[in-house]
Amino acid sequence: MSENTANPWLEIKAEDYEGHMALPEVDQSAPLGRIFGEALIRSAAKKIALLGSATGNGIEAVDFDKIDKLYALDINPDFLDILKTRFSLNISKIEAIACDLDRDDPELSGIDLVFAALIFEYVDTEAVIEKVARWLKPEGVLVVVLQLPCKDIPEISPSPFKNLEKLSSIMKLVVPDDFSAMVVARGLEPLGRRVHRLRSGKEFCEMAFRASEP
Ligand SMILES: C[S@@+](CC[C@H](N)C(=O)[O-])C[C@H]1O[C@@H](n2cnc3c(N)ncnc32)[C@H](O)[C@@H]1O
Repeated sequence: MSENTANPWLEIKAEDYEGHMALPEVDQSAPLGRIFGEALIRSAAKKIALLGSATGNGIEAVDFDKIDKLYALDINPDFLDILKTRFSLNISKIEAIACDLDRDDPELSGIDLVFAALIFEYVDTEAVIEKVARWLKPEGVLVVVLQLPCKDIPEISPSPFKNLEKLSSIMKLVVPDDFSAMVVARGLEPLGRRVHRLRSGKEFCEMAFRASEP
């Protein structure tokens, strides 16, 4: 995206985004929240970075008594304001970072779990992988969810929330094998992958990678 073009995500209202994701024919929030919850259980992470956190889908699954910090990163500060209000009881353990992952380089380190669901479709994949690889602690885990191509379903599901159509100008699917090759080139080891089929017929590919030992 050119320096002067505003990212369309900045123009998306939280109620439109959440309304769209929760539509029965879209139904993406609950599956993504479940995948995050499972990643939390598997990793027993103390420091978590949630990339493209939006308004905090899935954070209900975090046991704040067991973690030190959750970093929520998103380009849209309004989304993060809602996230902070929604999870205000645990705000001492949440750091919301409004940033453009393409242009900014938040100072994170020692992260046990980076969870990134449906964000790589909107950023410079290689540049963000390079940042994630630096943020992870040795043996820290990256869990990513990528949208798979589907012959009969548009990449951005049709929606009464017309504002979301703006996103098609920047959305691109990421091929899981290409993604995996880029992560492995940064020294991470693939742990596995699985495909989730949504009620809409859309499919997500979840992949996990582990940073190398010290
Ligand atoms: C499809 S949503 C992610 C879904 C979310 N993980 C969930 O479970 O509902 C993509 C998110 O990434 C954020 N985003 C898009 N481009 C970004 C960028 N360049 N830097 C940071 N966040 C970005 C958007 O604001 C949006 O909240």
